Amino acid sequence: MRPQQAPFPATRLRRTRQSEGVRALVRENTLSLGDLIWPVFVRSGDGVEEPVPSMPGVYRRSVDKLVEAAREAADLGIGAMCIFPYTGIEDRTEDCAGAWDPQNNANRAIRAIRKAVPDMVIMTDVALDTYNINGHDGFVEDGIIVNDRTVEALVKMSLAQADAGADIIGPSDMMDGRIAAIRAGLEAASHSDVMIMSYAAKYASAFYGPFRDAVGASGALTGDKKTYQMDYANSNEALRLIERDLREGADMVMVKPGMPYLDICHRVKSSFGAPTFAYQVSGEYSMVKAAAQNGWIDEERVMMESLMGFKRAGCDGVLTYFAPSVARLMNG
Ligand code: PBG
Repeated sequence: MRPQQAPFPATRLRRTRQSEGVRALVRENTLSLGDLIWPVFVRSGDGVEEPVPSMPGVYRRSVDKLVEAAREAADLGIGAMCIFPYTGIEDRTEDCAGAWDPQNNANRAIRAIRKAVPDMVIMTDVALDTYNINGHDGFVEDGIIVNDRTVEALVKMSLAQADAGADIIGPSDMMDGRIAAIRAGLEAASHSDVMIMSYAAKYASAFYGPFRDAVGASGALTGDKKTYQMDYANSNEALRLIERDLREGADMVMVKPGMPYLDICHRVKSSFGAPTFAYQVSGEYSMVKAAAQNGWIDEERVMMESLMGFKRAGCDGVLTYFAPSVARLMNG
């Protein structure tokens, strides 16, 4: 129980806000670089660093350039990256075989970063959308997203990533039963130390728009993802998903998108106490960038305020495209 406060004037809550030194003493939450995971995009080629038009400051890099970026990130104090592949239409097939190709760009990037920056924590994305001709996270048969056959493919995809040296497998597909199947697959393949961060509460969101440009999925997607991603009107369902995924063997759980879903972050952390992450997604990033470019908001201050919001809501960490900017700011 908190002590009862004496009434005004004995209690003046402004007293503890009077200087930066005092504010620092009573500060309840902190944001550090150790809380951040930097999402990056890899593409084919050599020496390529191609801007993503809808995400100012974000690039699609070939493996060699991504390794350079990983080195710089490590020097700045960023400890974790999440790798997403950009795929052209020529890389997309109905059987999605590229997803578990040990030589796909994501797996080549994992191997190269693991070698060049051994301490970098490397996270992956597990879903078929970037390899699927129709842009969906699962196989489509007669217009229906089929669950169980997709799960088998996701296991193969996860194993290829673990073999390449990934530390954290990140299933973002929202199929049922995938966490248990991936966990079993990893155990059977002697990857028992490889972790799973489940995109457990992932909403069908318009905030993913710029990301779909970044990975080349915008033109490809037919229809929407509402039969597998969550309805944004729901929150109890998010808790059921998190509970299920933890039971199936997830080591960490994620809420996605981030800023409009801080209520979910808070409920998840207070209900389960498990390592909880939020994904500040592409649309959230691009909104801040666009407003800042117009001179309507102060980019640095909004960035830091938005990230502290995740900590205050109970998150242990955040996936954010701002990670390098935060690092540069913190390094002065
Ligand atoms: C793919 C995936 C998406 C994102 C991460 N993994 C897009 C989607 O579900 O359509 C979005 C990330 C972002 O917007 O920054 N399964």
